[in-house]
Amino acid sequence: MAIREIITVPDPRLKKVSTPVEGGVTDEIRELMDDMLETMYAAPGIGLAAIQIGVPLRVIVMDLARDGDPPEPRYFVNPEICEIVEETAPYEEGCLSIPEVFDEVDRPVRCRLKYLDYQGNSVEEWAEGLYAVCIQHEMDHLQGTLFIDHLSRLKRQRAVEKVKKANKIRARDAA
Ligand code: NI
Repeated sequence: MAIREIITVPDPRLKKVSTPVEGGVTDEIRELMDDMLETMYAAPGIGLAAIQIGVPLRVIVMDLARDGDPPEPRYFVNPEICEIVEETAPYEEGCLSIPEVFDEVDRPVRCRLKYLDYQGNSVEEWAEGLYAVCIQHEMDHLQGTLFIDHLSRLKRQRAVEKVKKANKIRARDAA
């Protein structure tokens, strides 16, 4: 396992549409998911899409266990939302590719998912609560959409400027 670099806005790769994994869940895909999980834990975060480490494949990892509870890693290969409820609720979201920026996004409170798990088994289940929020946020990444794309243009510009500024300071301090 290895920690990979997480790319941040305005990196154009974050706008790419990720392609489905072909040929099922191979060792190579499991290795990618292991790296993604380690990268996510180190950040730390609760969800990560492969494109956030520059890999444009439809792969997501997640862990929604509370601090102090045992880890509960979840893996999603080629996830699809097959049903969604009309009721929405706001939730304050953040993103490892947009560090230090948080804002409320309205999303459907429940959705039915279909995906392949770590073993390559096909799973179909309902997600609700934080799970529903997180999987919708991560699946947006697979379409090249960020949570700030759900906000006003002004808020979006401010968020990108904030990250650019922080990255500049970090680069200067490292020099
Ligand atoms: Ni994100």
